[in-house]
Amino acid sequence: MSIFAGLAPLPPDAILGLSEEYSRDTRPGKVSLAAGVFVDETGITPVLATVAEAEARILAAQTTKLYKPVAGDPAYLRPVRDLVFGSGNAAVAEGRVETLHTPGGTGALRVAADLVHRLRPGATIWMSTPTWPNHPQVFAAAGMATASYPYLDPATGTLDAAGMLAALRGAPAGDVVLLHACCHNPTGIDPTPDVWRQVGDVIAERGLLPLVDFAYQGFGHGLREDADWMDGLLRPGLELLVSTSYSKSFALYNERVGALLLVAGSAAEAAAAQSHVRAAIRSNYSNPPSHGGDIVATILGDPALRAQWEVELAGMRTRITSNRTALVEAITSRGIPGDWAPIATQRGMFALLGLSLEQVARLREEHAVYVVGRGRINVAGFTSATIGPFADALGAVIAG
Ligand code: LMR
Repeated sequence: MSIFAGLAPLPPDAILGLSEEYSRDTRPGKVSLAAGVFVDETGITPVLATVAEAEARILAAQTTKLYKPVAGDPAYLRPVRDLVFGSGNAAVAEGRVETLHTPGGTGALRVAADLVHRLRPGATIWMSTPTWPNHPQVFAAAGMATASYPYLDPATGTLDAAGMLAALRGAPAGDVVLLHACCHNPTGIDPTPDVWRQVGDVIAERGLLPLVDFAYQGFGHGLREDADWMDGLLRPGLELLVSTSYSKSFALYNERVGALLLVAGSAAEAAAAQSHVRAAIRSNYSNPPSHGGDIVATILGDPALRAQWEVELAGMRTRITSNRTALVEAITSRGIPGDWAPIATQRGMFALLGLSLEQVARLREEHAVYVVGRGRINVAGFTSATIGPFADALGAVIAG
């Protein structure tokens, strides 16, 4: 009896499938604004100088390819924890934080999903509308039920805070709320400090478990500024999960490096929970890949390299911000109807143009411009040579 005969193929992945299609496209002047990857003014995604230096040091010192510990290497885990929580955090001081090395942010999310599903099999995870298309897939694959809360008000193009809070007030105790720490993917719109506080209130009142996806630390306003969400969310006794990714901030996309952090009510509870995450890791991929974690540990562990990396990170952030301004200028100077100004003040890699599926298909088919879903664009993917042609293409598909 065949397992594969007559099997219908699945559609390509909403983001990475497009990147693959773009690679096969032979048209000159093609533009990919699909996957969230940073490009410099020459259109390439460079290896950071600090990463190259760390790799040279790692290779020179390497004597073995022995397994890493299942949870990861303390030389990686400690600076990663401090990057997320900063200094002076009470939960860290009380030993209530555990950090585990994962393959990318996606690995952290999957391990978090396995942990929650193991401990609370009936829990539903609530996610924003819209969200990263891989979010629902990751949690469904782990067997979790998924639900959504309003986030973007399509009429105004702003955060629907009232809708978000109302939906979360209706979530049953014990459910999980997935929140984007900063640089919301795909909208680029983040909650204000006041909204974060209200979300924190609802989470505390309802007994919900926040899972914060922190994939873009340093791409919004700055390393510490992008952790401001904690001020509103963290409360004494709050349990918390955080997933991080170093794909973007260290441009380590193909090294797959990230972490899952958990905050528990006591050090003993954190240690017990950590053992359950280790079990989830062991049954998924056994133990973490070494190279990416070693790079991050080397950079964060050396004050001079770390300072240099912060300059490189700020350079990427500044470039994205100026791309935003240049894009709004290019679109408005062509008189393309729509309210485009907010793109300049949104943060992170993405902006959502709110196009129809037909307009998105026309961008790809007639103009060789690749964008995701209903017009999510990777603003970090522009060069000054591609902004004008993109704005021309956008004008053409909007004109009909
Ligand atoms: C994105 O949203 O484009 C990135 O996070 C890349 C990915 O894995 O989808």
